[in-house]
Amino acid sequence: MSEFYKQLLENNKKWVASKLELDKEYFSKLSKGQSPPVLWIGCADSRVPANEIIGANPGEVFVHRNIANMVVHSDMNMLSVLDYAVNALKVKHIIVCGHYGCGGVKAAMGNDSIGLIDNWVRHIKDVYRFHKDELDAIEDEKERFDKFVEFNVIEQVFDLAKSSIVQSAWRKHQELSVHGWVYELSKGLVKDLNVNFGNNSELDKVYQLNI
Ligand code: CO
Repeated sequence: MSEFYKQLLENNKKWVASKLELDKEYFSKLSKGQSPPVLWIGCADSRVPANEIIGANPGEVFVHRNIANMVVHSDMNMLSVLDYAVNALKVKHIIVCGHYGCGGVKAAMGNDSIGLIDNWVRHIKDVYRFHKDELDAIEDEKERFDKFVEFNVIEQVFDLAKSSIVQSAWRKHQELSVHGWVYELSKGLVKDLNVNFGNNSELDKVYQLNI
């Protein structure tokens, strides 16, 4: 066993001790249940730990992460998380948080085949196609990459709004809004893209559901 692996278990013991030092009931209170106000849909990238970058404590954020923070409408894993978060936990906010320098988005800009993941990256390539003219017009590659990351987040926010789960909550006048953020790896700061939805009237008519 590597030293790093063993260290993780030691770290866990220290973390427990530090929490208990502040509050003896810390874990017994947490074990009673959760009512997080936020669902986070982020990238699986190890450098973007959901709770840590926004200073959230255990119990405050329900988290779903995958490669390039995608909302794929046939992904049962994402749909199950979304359904539970909206209908059981009644979260008030859903945040899609992408990040500059995202490997998934980078892969979608190129043509290399990297295996099974090509089929996941395909969804990100669709986003490039939607914004092809604007993206192709950006000569600087880094600037184009950054813009693509932003477009991808915005598209996923729209995809959440198109889902039957989110539209159904809005029809029931449940308090629920969706937001798009991008995390800057080199600074640690989050940029709010100011794409916020709180009802389905802003959706293209073809996606609006009478539910
Ligand atoms: Co990423």
